[in-house]
Amino acid sequence: MSNNLLKGKKGIIFGALDEKSLAWKTALKCYEEGARLVLTNAPVALRMGEINKLAEAVKAPVIGADVTSMDDLRNLFEKSIEHFGGKIDFILHSIGMSLNVRKGKHYTEMNYEWNQKTLDISAMSLHKVLRTAWDMDAIDEWGSVVALTYIAAQRVFPDYNEMADAKSLLESVTRMFGYYYGVKKKVRVNTVSQSPTRTTAGSGVKGFDGFINYAEKMSPLGNATGEDCANYIVTLFSDLTRMVTMQNLFHDGGFSFTGVTQAVIEQMEK
Ligand SMILES: NC(=O)c1ccc[n+]([C@@H]2O[C@H](COP(=O)([O-])OP(=O)(O)OC[C@H]3O[C@@H](n4cnc5c(N)ncnc54)[C@H](O)[C@@H]3O)[C@@H](O)[C@H]2O)c1
Repeated sequence: MSNNLLKGKKGIIFGALDEKSLAWKTALKCYEEGARLVLTNAPVALRMGEINKLAEAVKAPVIGADVTSMDDLRNLFEKSIEHFGGKIDFILHSIGMSLNVRKGKHYTEMNYEWNQKTLDISAMSLHKVLRTAWDMDAIDEWGSVVALTYIAAQRVFPDYNEMADAKSLLESVTRMFGYYYGVKKKVRVNTVSQSPTRTTAGSGVKGFDGFINYAEKMSPLGNATGEDCANYIVTLFSDLTRMVTMQNLFHDGGFSFTGVTQAVIEQMEK
């Protein structure tokens, strides 16, 4: 059911890899709510070809961009503005990649060159996206930018490895740039801290099955699904949340504020 919450709005969605991706589900919901979209992902992800199915479903062009390249980002914004015939109202940053996780390096034995890349792709890329938009004055007043994060930024989840540091940095960039963009153009910037969800990036974390089951048992409402996440993000892109900015918004069925649940106690008593 559509409420036309995003009618007339124009947005760029980063990070739809396949139909499990949080960005994929969000693109579908934004389209359903009346938005016009541009889809983007890294050239290597575009070669998989999956994104073309989404592009067809949401009637959006696909413009490749490695999010760490300022040239790619400028090109993306230029082409998007040209496509829309005007400025952008919302951006979803749904990007994460850890080289140390991928290559099985323990946190205490981190390879620092890989770590630099991880931080660049997963965190400073939000700065690069916002900086490009800022320099080009590409986002309209009261625009909304959302990036996806995880509670390992606040509490230790050992196997999340260097991504915990990356998410802390991402959330800090959100607050800092959110301040400047708010003052300059009333653009709001927030992170959504999502429950563990079975996606390509999510399942790459060691021990993910245990992790997701534990979170399910520790959340009064259960884990938030990818569809739930997409719905929540739509509200943040809409005009109904105009005064929310610089926040880390937990979207996790109550996990973040739960000390213990009956289900976990029963499990421990077994
Ligand atoms: N799945 C979870 O459990 C979970 C929970 C909380 C937060 N998140 C976050 O949600 C976001 C989306 O992840 P997902 O779970 O949908 O997985 P996903 O693997 O579907 O998405 C990750 C995306 O990042 C893109 N990417 C990687 N390097 C890039 C680069 N250099 N330039 C441009 N794009 C690049 C990939 O191509 C991919 O589309 C990530 O920030 C992730 O950390 C995921």
